[in-house]
Amino acid sequence: MCGIVGYAGPVSGAPSPRPVDVALQGLARLEYRGYDSAGVAVLDGDQVRVDKRAGKLANLREALESRRETPSAVAIGHTRWATHGAPTDGNAHPHLGGREQELALVHNGIIENFAALRAELEADGYPFLSETDSEVAAHLVAREMETAGDLTEAMRRTAGRLEGAFTLLAVHRTAPGTVVAARRNSPLVVGLGEGENFLGSDVAAFVDATKEALEVGQDQVVTVTADSVDIIDFEGTPVTDAKRYTIEWDAQGAQKGGYASFMAKEIHEQASAVADTLRGRIEDGKLQLDEMKIDEAVLRTIDKIVVVACGTAANAGAVVKYAIEHWCRIPVEVELAHEFRYRDPVVTEKTLVVAISQSGETMDTLMAVRHAQEQGAKVVAICNTRGSTIPREADAALYLHVGPEIAVASTKAYLGQIAACFLLGLFLAQVRGNLYPDEIAQQMEDLSAIPEKIQEVLDNSDQVERLALEMKDATSVLFLGRHVGYPTAMEGALKLKEIAYIHAEGFAAGELKHGPIALVDEGQPVFVIVPSPGGRDSLHSKVVSNIQEVRARGARTLVIAEEGDEAVLPYADEVIRYPRTRALFAPLLTVIPLQIFSCELATAKGLDVDQPRNLAKSVTVE
Ligand code: AGP
Repeated sequence: MCGIVGYAGPVSGAPSPRPVDVALQGLARLEYRGYDSAGVAVLDGDQVRVDKRAGKLANLREALESRRETPSAVAIGHTRWATHGAPTDGNAHPHLGGREQELALVHNGIIENFAALRAELEADGYPFLSETDSEVAAHLVAREMETAGDLTEAMRRTAGRLEGAFTLLAVHRTAPGTVVAARRNSPLVVGLGEGENFLGSDVAAFVDATKEALEVGQDQVVTVTADSVDIIDFEGTPVTDAKRYTIEWDAQGAQKGGYASFMAKEIHEQASAVADTLRGRIEDGKLQLDEMKIDEAVLRTIDKIVVVACGTAANAGAVVKYAIEHWCRIPVEVELAHEFRYRDPVVTEKTLVVAISQSGETMDTLMAVRHAQEQGAKVVAICNTRGSTIPREADAALYLHVGPEIAVASTKAYLGQIAACFLLGLFLAQVRGNLYPDEIAQQMEDLSAIPEKIQEVLDNSDQVERLALEMKDATSVLFLGRHVGYPTAMEGALKLKEIAYIHAEGFAAGELKHGPIALVDEGQPVFVIVPSPGGRDSLHSKVVSNIQEVRARGARTLVIAEEGDEAVLPYADEVIRYPRTRALFAPLLTVIPLQIFSCELATAKGLDVDQPRNLAKSVTVE
């Protein structure tokens, strides 16, 4: 939530467009994080200049044209997902701080004690111009600056007074070449350039300028100039062990590459994305997961797995539950991360918690991870974003390697999450001796064949594209599935809700007759995910019966069935085919028509597919 970018270049006193250009480019790449409003601050001699606009970033570009001529060496920028205060110009960041507006500050997160701080600052004569919680941080840093005389120290003292989650970036008129940042429970990375340095909520902010990055730990203050990066903790102790790494993602990954939307591009990248998740993890038929830094002796004692995740990531967890229980004979619970710690879950040193998060920043999931660790559980993070908080705090992290996912609706990360969890499940089965080596090798061989099958599904998307156009005025769509088809149905419904704003629900097909079938009326579109007829016979025939039940009540049945499955033909208005694979791997194929359906339908409705209303890509508030 909210995207933050910072830039520090050489102080020359001459007009320079670079800080503004870097800020704008960074914000364009971070806009997926929030898009209610955007703003940039630069220094112009001893004046702090702030431009900010409600709405999309495009509204800000023109306003900033003249700022490209300022002699500023620094810039800070922000793209907002509103929490406190409506998305207006006034509530947009940066906020000015100090009685003479001598400082500008941007904030990501929520300052929980802002009301008390605001009352204190107002009593002290500080003027408030917005309804945000963030403005208190701007005034606090400015006030501390009066006594500290040093922006780093002022930021450190301010951080000590704030409760909640925050990444803060500030520039001050007396520090012409410096940007100072602080972070607690909110993301921040440093980009290391040649004669210039960068700050960002994630590496997308500066990936086209540098591939070298530095992780910033919890409760740390970073001071960045053109040729220095200094980090201290909130106690003031220098941090000397910040981890430097090279960014694997290229700038192109964050561009649409000829597709109408990032979502369409990311859907069509899924064959290579899953291949990248699997790459290098099988050697001589044996599964190698070097990242599994948890002792194998500990893994052998695990008696329960709890998956914590939200949204699409939770649906991925629900898919892999079936596989891990089947392979490892360990009970697997899948828990929405925001419910987990409030129900006093039974977690011990023998519990393995699997935290699935594309962004690695989701606050609900992070809090669940911390709660689990407090109870003594080991945590494995399944994550896409290098250096983000969840994998940093977990005991081990498996990265997806699917490249940046920009669209708010998660697609390729979903497939990567499922594939990575399959690897984890097979690895556990290998370590614990639940499966023979040749069984694991066979599973891996079949998994390795999946990217080709994904491509086949993608190459045959005409039918589902046509359906999306036909159904663009639908007001309700239902999705049914059993076994691994159930979470696939949930995911299909989530995609349609979030980007097409259509009422959609995913049900376990067996649940239908316990209530939801009352929703079915003449013409009601119902997608049904049908398992392979070659799998467990009873499962297939039960789903075929469910198709008949809804059709008998007038539903339009859109059936996703395996190639060669003839049994569905009499009851299907449309049959969408997927290639044969193991029943457990089918979710990597059957969800794709549902993703394409939502994407095409929302596009046909003229909606902003990548930035759906009210949402943001990473949800860094609880
Ligand atoms: C999916 O399309 C969503 N936008 C959302 O449900 C997302 O999966 C969820 O917020 C979790 O995000 P994470 O994977 O970054 O933790």
